[in-house]
Amino acid sequence: MNPHILAIDQGTTSGRAIVFNRNLEIIGVAQQEFPQHYPASGWVEHEPDDLWQTTITTCREVLKKTGLTGADIAAIGITNQRETTIIWDRETGRPIHRAIVWQDRRTSDHCESLKNEGHEELVVSRSGLLLDPYFSATKAAWILDHVDGARDRAARGQLAFGTVDTFLLWKLTGGRVHATDATNASRTMLYNIHTGAWDRELLDLFTIPEDILPEVRDSAADFGTTDPDLLGHPIPIGGIAGDQQAALVGQACFEPGMLKSTYGTGCFAVLNTGDQPVRSTNRLLTTIGIQLGSRPTYALEGSIFIAGAAVQWLRDSLGIIRNAAESGTLARQADERQNVYLVPAFTGMGAPYWDAESRGAMFGLTRSTGPAEFARAALESVCYQTRDLLEAMGRDWSGMPGRETVLRVDGGMVASDWTMQFLADILNAPVDRPRILETTALGAAYLAGLQTGICPPPDRFAASWKQDHRFLPGLDEATRATKYSGWQDAVRRTLSRR
Ligand code: G3P
Repeated sequence: MNPHILAIDQGTTSGRAIVFNRNLEIIGVAQQEFPQHYPASGWVEHEPDDLWQTTITTCREVLKKTGLTGADIAAIGITNQRETTIIWDRETGRPIHRAIVWQDRRTSDHCESLKNEGHEELVVSRSGLLLDPYFSATKAAWILDHVDGARDRAARGQLAFGTVDTFLLWKLTGGRVHATDATNASRTMLYNIHTGAWDRELLDLFTIPEDILPEVRDSAADFGTTDPDLLGHPIPIGGIAGDQQAALVGQACFEPGMLKSTYGTGCFAVLNTGDQPVRSTNRLLTTIGIQLGSRPTYALEGSIFIAGAAVQWLRDSLGIIRNAAESGTLARQADERQNVYLVPAFTGMGAPYWDAESRGAMFGLTRSTGPAEFARAALESVCYQTRDLLEAMGRDWSGMPGRETVLRVDGGMVASDWTMQFLADILNAPVDRPRILETTALGAAYLAGLQTGICPPPDRFAASWKQDHRFLPGLDEATRATKYSGWQDAVRRTLSRR
């Protein structure tokens, strides 16, 4: 048999299944979107069955497309939207509530009151995260408190909690395996990233019963085999990682100081800090980048909420482009002499500002400002925000490579040469775009292949990583400094005065 690897990439808006051959080349992709539910302002939910159905349907579809059967798949790797929280009945497998999505802000008040009671230091020191509704802990508590009888059922051991990887694993194994990996566990705000275990005091703080939690394993580990009825054959599941961590692996950022940034709807920059969990003083997150052989590799992470979403805004709200690809073409035509800035705080600002109350603003408009300047300001805003994250990383960690920093990029927006060139210019650092842009799925496939012995160890995988293009900085220092200080000024004027 010529072994293949199936990567399941369960994202925030769609489920995807991607087949790789043993050389980690993509040979087939299937994708399906699923509905988003917004039951109240700031609330975001997914129907768990949609997550499952899109997963299993796309897996079957990609096998059909590639002419393979379950017997040709040597291993499955799972990667997923992180933090999204599901609680289900162990007996029936039925969720007791819809999944509460990572973007959901319903537990803001809960987090605020815990902060006011002085608990943030405990949370940061144990979990590496900030006391924010983004993470799973308060979402799980909300479900237990709002579904009739849930706390009693949990006390009787009838309920199971999981992030999306755990829920899919449970379904794929016919309810036999209740587990997660360390990267996903590190996003729950219940996991102690230093001891590598669920943290008793955090569980008490968030009132989460220990019995509902999954077992935490390495990111490449034996996660059981699929129920044979699902894909026609029992297939070993050998890898699990949260999507941003899987991208870190797919970008082969295995060494301390290596850095990747993924541009989807938002943008997540993740810096490998090796065996050191670096405590941020700039409101970045300390998280597990990957865990292999029981050894965690730590990372610093910065998340910005609006990246590709700024391009969607140009297309859907302003109607000045028909598709994302036109944004770069339009930006190229902008008048160089106009200093127009967009601060895309459409849903507040993420790292390093974490200002939920601010809203978007534009600066420097004149009578001659038109669609081209809007497009350029939108694309530039993503690059300026990336620089904000890298500056914060540099302040947090002396191991940050400074002038030798190379940023590996992936995600939809990196197809724009114009944007990537501006990114290199404003960072004053090379930007590498890889040959395989599906780095998240590649990371999951690699982990599964590593576990099953199909893929080489990390150093050999890293040696085979190839760039499609390196963008080198070209802007003179004075222009770079003027442009960036204009951005900083625009942000200062936008942040809410609380
Ligand atoms: O932390 C949230 C992140 O994992 C979501 O990623 O790509 O599904 O939007 P994505």
